[in-house]
Amino acid sequence: MRFHFKLLVPVVLPVMAVAACINAAAQTPGYKNVGRTPTAAEVQALDIAIGTDGKELPPGSGNAKNGARIFGEKCAVCHGENQQGSPMAPALVGGKGTLTSLHPMMTAGSYWPFATTIFDYIRRAMPRYQEGSLKVDEVYSLTAFILFRNDIVKEDDVIDPTTLPKIKMPNRDGFIPQNLDEIHDWKKRGCKLGHCP
Ligand code: HEC
Repeated sequence: MRFHFKLLVPVVLPVMAVAACINAAAQTPGYKNVGRTPTAAEVQALDIAIGTDGKELPPGSGNAKNGARIFGEKCAVCHGENQQGSPMAPALVGGKGTLTSLHPMMTAGSYWPFATTIFDYIRRAMPRYQEGSLKVDEVYSLTAFILFRNDIVKEDDVIDPTTLPKIKMPNRDGFIPQNLDEIHDWKKRGCKLGHCP
């Protein structure tokens, strides 16, 4: 048995490697006539990124009252009726003022620096497993409802491409620029004894 084993390894491995190469060669497609140029509508459907200044926000609007209803139907099952979170999904509300404590609670309300990101995130990623199924007005309303429950807007406030970018989130100034040279105040930059990070 020992003899067979030793003999098999050097013989079988190269044979397998050669077979794999032949197989791969047979399956490699010629790249002629593969695929096609996407249509403008197809590109537009994928082009949903909203920058922090909200310039790309689509036309539409919503408010927290409508958002509460939609949230109950499509989001509460994971995030909880009151956005408090569950073993299946994080809390979306609470935590304001805790970030500098020993137990920071990071929610969309307490932690995220821009309200426009809430819109972008919900539209691209929620409800989980049915991403992309929400209408634009529903996304505005859900964003409004999350902001309302975090005491950032009022229940009747209209959230749309004009009002959303103007909202100042509680932790807006809690982030430092990636490029530290942008911080001109050396104390804020964390410089000590002439040495700056
Ligand atoms: C099937 C469960 C599920 C459903 C339904 C669901 N979510 Fe979520 N949601 C999650 C999970 C899980 C995460 C965390 C994802 C991660 O961090 O990668 C999350 C994250 C989020 C976040 C970001 C939270 C953070 O602080 O990172 C927001 C905002 C959000 N969901 C909103 C919604 C809204 C609005 C709906 C309803 C339209 C919804 N979700 C429906 C599971 C769900």
